Amino acid sequence: MGKRLTYALFATLALSFLVAACGTPAPATIARTPSRPFSIRGKGEMRPISPTRMADALASVGLDPKKLPPLEQLDKSQRLLVMETFNTALGVPCSGCHSDPDFRADTRRKRVAKRMWNDIVRGLAYDNGDLLYCDSCHNGALFTLDRRDKDKVAEFMSNEFVGRLKRTDGKDHDCGTCHGDPPEFAFLSDWRESPAPDVRLVKAPPPPVSTIATAINPPPIPTPPTPTPPTGGVKPPTKPPTAPVSSGPCGTKLNPCPLQRWMRSNIAPAITANDTQALARALDRVATFSPDGSWRWAEIAKTGAEFARQGDMSAARKSCKGCHEAYKPSWKANYRSRAVK
Ligand code: HEC
Ligand code: HEC
Ligand code: HEC
Ligand code: HEC
Repeated sequence: MGKRLTYALFATLALSFLVAACGTPAPATIARTPSRPFSIRGKGEMRPISPTRMADALASVGLDPKKLPPLEQLDKSQRLLVMETFNTALGVPCSGCHSDPDFRADTRRKRVAKRMWNDIVRGLAYDNGDLLYCDSCHNGALFTLDRRDKDKVAEFMSNEFVGRLKRTDGKDHDCGTCHGDPPEFAFLSDWRESPAPDVRLVKAPPPPVSTIATAINPPPIPTPPTPTPPTGGVKPPTKPPTAPVSSGPCGTKLNPCPLQRWMRSNIAPAITANDTQALARALDRVATFSPDGSWRWAEIAKTGAEFARQGDMSAARKSCKGCHEAYKPSWKANYRSRAVK
């Protein structure tokens, strides 16, 4: 409580200082969310996402959560109000992001916050038309994930972040929207490493480029397609599908296809728990899913499994890219509804 009071006092002081300095009127007040101000990293509550409670406040300075401009383009009064929404939505004082007293100074939190705005909030929307903003996911807490159980994190992301949201650029939305492909599960570390880029605004029609993915994903690190010296490179599959198995429609956001679901709940948790033995077992299983004997699928998976068994996570992870690049499109085109277990 003492801390919270200090924080409130600080925020008020900082705000009044700022207001005095810029001569702008105080922004509309923002209703406090049930505050859980000092959340602990890794022990968040993973609450379902919820429609923003800040739409009115944002509207008071002419901002519409469905059409937010890039963060760097806000005018002074908008920026001030937005900063206050950050305090409330994330349960942190101004100094939670800023290196007081220099608000211009670059900080790692500012880097992440800017990309959360420019890439996540601007790049995603609720399927059902509800309004998405920082508080939708953060709900008064900076740290929202309970990282102690990676299976639950993967399931939560599958249901909430993929299942209930869509991309504003109209492309298919899946784990790759935020994590890239092959997935980087700790992408916030990359975001912390360098200042967030400004949004490159394209004039005229909506850009055909994969805006959110290119903005979010770190530049690809060149890696060989497989961890072992390839015998002759991965050949793209040439044969047409022989016997695709069909079992009803899948691949919708609420009904992932069998392998997709399997990868989410077996591979993602093993990697994020840094459990090389679980990853080895999972990749051994993947090897048995090969739909076509002429594919190097099984070889790629087994090589990855072998590295994992030896405890070499980074070599094992090269198999992700090797297989996804070579075979994911054909699998999705021809074998997607195939059962795996
Ligand atoms: C969640 C993180 C976060 C919080 C909390 C936050 N800010 Fe910011 N602030 C940012 C980011 C990111 C920018 C950079 C925006 C940009 O790129 O234009 C910024 C920019 C600013 C700027 C403009 C600095 C410049 O470069 O000219 C001021 C002033 C500012 N914030 C004040 C505040 C005040 C006052 C508070 C508390 C009421 C606050 N901020 C809370 C993230 C935050
Ligand atoms: C779709 C959900 C979602 C939305 C919307 C969202 N965030 Fe996040 N944000 C997350 C998740 C998940 C994390 C990781 C939380 C954890 O580590 O427990 C995170 C982490 C952060 C962090 C980094 C905390 C740290 O230091 O590690 C900041 C800062 C942040 N978000 C700011 C924002 C701001 C500002 C907005 C609105 C412009 C926003 N977020 C909108 C999901 C979201
Ligand atoms: C809206 C963006 C978004 C989407 C979509 C998304 N995630 Fe995440 N995910 C995050 C953020 C943010 C983090 C925190 C990353 C960090 O700490 O660097 C995270 C972290 C994770 C973690 C790691 C937890 C840990 O402690 O290491 C797992 C596992 C995960 N996501 C699985 C998935 C899976 C599986 C999917 C697809 C079903 C998915 N995510 C979709 C935003 C997203
Ligand atoms: C031998 C082939 C193969 C290997 C190895 C492989 N994958 Fe996959 N993975 C696939 C295919 C094919 C899909 C697409 C399934 C679908 O969408 O129906 C997929 C899908 C996924 C998905 C679901 C993506 C989404 O957004 O729904 C995740 C997560 C994933 N893989 C992670 C990994 C990681 C991490 C590794 C490396 C440790 C890996 N995979 C290794 C073949 C492979």
